[in-house]
Amino acid sequence: MNAKTTSASAPGKFILLGEHAVVFGKPAVALAIDKRVQCTVKTSDTNRINGEVLIPGNNPHIDFLLDKYGLDSVDVCIESEVPSGSGLGSSAALSSSLSAAIRRYLDLDVEKIAIAKDAFDTEYFIQGNASPLDTSCSTFGNGVVLNNDGSGSPLWTAEKNGKRWKISSIKAPKMTFVIGFTGIKASTGPLVAKVKKYTENSSFASEIIDEIEAITSEGIRCMENNDKEKLGKLMIQDHKLLSILGVSCSELNKLVDAALIDSYGAKLTGAGGGGSIVALTDRPEKVCEKITRHGGMPFVVGTSSDGVL
Ligand code: PMV
Repeated sequence: MNAKTTSASAPGKFILLGEHAVVFGKPAVALAIDKRVQCTVKTSDTNRINGEVLIPGNNPHIDFLLDKYGLDSVDVCIESEVPSGSGLGSSAALSSSLSAAIRRYLDLDVEKIAIAKDAFDTEYFIQGNASPLDTSCSTFGNGVVLNNDGSGSPLWTAEKNGKRWKISSIKAPKMTFVIGFTGIKASTGPLVAKVKKYTENSSFASEIIDEIEAITSEGIRCMENNDKEKLGKLMIQDHKLLSILGVSCSELNKLVDAALIDSYGAKLTGAGGGGSIVALTDRPEKVCEKITRHGGMPFVVGTSSDGVL
């Protein structure tokens, strides 16, 4: 093949409601943010990452996708505005953008369902028990809802090992959110495994998952009605339930409490154990100030972001 260069980008995301419960087939909603990962694929002598020879096993997302498409002589360059391990979907954005860049490189259709599937397969391979929430949000952008019949327009259906997720798009609300990153990088797989073990050993944990389901369904209605007061209250309740499941930590709780003073609601977002919180507010500067004062890294995020470009 003649020397060639192609690229693509995809947004990070945050989970507004429903994390962890979604792994059990319950509804969840994620919103794409205006921070992106960009991947460039260019012809090289062997597979490389940012110019360095790719060491198999060190970059499983890249290995998986290059292998899937039979590529053995490309340099993959990654530029990311999404901090890794922050719970903002950096790895999903990497998988979606790399799939799109590879497809362009091979003159294949940049078809969103194919990209969403590639990205989900990649995450599932690496993480084990993943849901297609992050990867669908990175691929399609804006708002994405899983497993919530009746809301939004259907995008695609994912299936893995007998599990099925219906994925729909919803309009991202015109609301202001502030993210507060604890600075602690947390790995999703062990937290998902912890919740799974808890639900297997306790019907109380399964009841918590059901309560998260009810809160998420109500939250989706609040989003559609632009009801910030109610949505904020549901976020606070969701944080409490996630804490009971054992996925919060003192740093997350500290940032949630600090943000709440100037917010409608705040909660951990993503897998927990570190990572980030999200706050819904009309006073983003004040929330950023409080998050900084309590040791977090704040950023105001715009929603309504495009998916893979
Ligand atoms: O850590 P994140 O932001 O990728 O979120 C994980 C969300 C979980 O529900 C805990 C797992 C999943 O795959 O949906």
